[in-house]
Amino acid sequence: MAIERTLVLIKPDGMQRHLAGLSIDRLENTHLELVGAKIATVTDKLAREHYALLEGKGPFVDKKLFEHLINFIKGEYHGDPKHRVLALVYQGENAVQGIRTAVGVTNPEDASPDTIRGAFGRICRKHGYFENVVHASGNLEEAAREINIWFKPGEIID
Ligand code: CDP
Ligand code: MG
Repeated sequence: MAIERTLVLIKPDGMQRHLAGLSIDRLENTHLELVGAKIATVTDKLAREHYALLEGKGPFVDKKLFEHLINFIKGEYHGDPKHRVLALVYQGENAVQGIRTAVGVTNPEDASPDTIRGAFGRICRKHGYFENVVHASGNLEEAAREINIWFKPGEIID
């Protein structure tokens, strides 16, 4: 089986609620290899680059919902003037699916309680978007694209 890499972000809700450690604990249970990690400041440009492929698609035909997603990942709703997320790269066999399984499905109300999103996620009643604690790449193409956005090659251990 091919060795894959995948991107995880501990989102601003996870950072504010000090869920980074608990989330990483669950990710580590996959026994994949952690090969990249850093605190990143989410600028408007970075947020829009990360979510570029979602704009105008699916639920994001609703422009307001897309702007809530951008504001959310920038930390605007979690009182972080430093706009921090924790970015991680995991590597190993089937890394993309393995991390997705630990993370759970997008809607925290549908996610299994055994998953990070199911255990810790919530729906923001005020704005209608999901505060689901972590991002994980959805497939290999997304993973390659996203790792390239968040990391320079020298920042990942080979
Ligand atoms: O993150 P995931 O790949 O599971 O889902 P996505 O479809 O790629 O959507 C990206 C992110 O948009 C989600 O993780 C949620 O934070 C947000 N989202 C939302 O707030 N409301 C929705 N109805 C769908 C997605
Ligand atoms: Mg996705």
